[in-house]
Amino acid sequence: MLGIEEQKWLNSLIAGITAKMDWVSEKSRDKIPYTTIDGTHDDRSSCNPSGGTDDGINWWTNGFWGGMMWLMYHETGHEKYKEIAVLSEAKLDQCFEQFYGLHHDVGFMWLPTSVANYKITGNPESRKRALHAANLLAGRFNLAGGFIRAWNDLPSADTRGWAIIDCLFNLPLLYWATEETGDPRFKHIAVAHADMAMTSFVRADGSVNHIVEFDPSSGGIVRTYGGQGFGEGSSWTRGQAWALYGFILSYIHTGKTEYLETAKRVAHYFLANIPEDGVIPIDFRQPSEPKREDDTAAAIAACGLIEIAKIVGAYEKPLYVGAALKLMQALERRSDWTEHSDAIIQKGSSAYSVARHHHPIIYGDFFFMEAAFKMKGNDLYLW
Ligand code: GLY
Repeated sequence: MLGIEEQKWLNSLIAGITAKMDWVSEKSRDKIPYTTIDGTHDDRSSCNPSGGTDDGINWWTNGFWGGMMWLMYHETGHEKYKEIAVLSEAKLDQCFEQFYGLHHDVGFMWLPTSVANYKITGNPESRKRALHAANLLAGRFNLAGGFIRAWNDLPSADTRGWAIIDCLFNLPLLYWATEETGDPRFKHIAVAHADMAMTSFVRADGSVNHIVEFDPSSGGIVRTYGGQGFGEGSSWTRGQAWALYGFILSYIHTGKTEYLETAKRVAHYFLANIPEDGVIPIDFRQPSEPKREDDTAAAIAACGLIEIAKIVGAYEKPLYVGAALKLMQALERRSDWTEHSDAIIQKGSSAYSVARHHHPIIYGDFFFMEAAFKMKGNDLYLW
């Protein structure tokens, strides 16, 4: 996949990741981090007593720390990573007990933790947790409109008919549940949602909407929202990356060529918009000032581009590998390899219109690591 110089660069990147994760894993052993505060990982592993929001233990990113530990275990074989992954997985049981804060992102939470644990160790408790999560996800499917409902009731909006592009990443939990049990119901729901996303989210130019609102009773489309991007009709880059990589995942699980074609269409739109320096904005259609960036979008897109490169023929491969490399090299230049920060990737942005930008976010590190190991050919398929 890579030339000699690029391979050397990748080897040194992986050595850097391994060295950093060696001490960070021990320092943050008992946490489930989301971001850093003054360079130190925060901790989302405490139970939110109100039980009605996405905060605390229900936070949608709470599977990534465990996933990072499984990636490191796969790469190094060191038992400590497995132990930390198992610790963080057990903490997520509070979500099942609490129930009310749970949402559509159960795939993001239990694929990199329980499904990973079950696949690697065969732990029956992990299988049970993952099947439980898959059933909760299947229960959010709305037959009218054919979508998995995003989020729960919000004080600010009626979200009963909302679907979001990010949810493509939860579908592998349903594919896994069918592969594991032989019961096709889960896969039927995943395919219906992915088909809906192809027709209702992807625009003619290959860009994607973040939020599509359906009438939850009739299933008709009501409108779209800009969501975490700049505004309605804009192009939130992490959403483009979820689509690019998400459709490839649905292709891998189903073999449906429409998903591969759609992933390539989104990828070509993404590629056409990568700036010269490889640094990805929060939204490809945001104003030029203020300059707002999101390194997490770059890391997710790099993973998806590498997956496309594995599938396409020899003539097409260099396009996708070259773009993934450009994104990864820009990320590597902007990373923190010192002991001043518990995070590697420093410039994530959760959304365009929030107060805090350009800070570490755990899925930046997760997908950066995943992309590096994929590029090396030592992938652990967590999705
Ligand atoms: N899935 C939510 C986000 O990407 O921020």
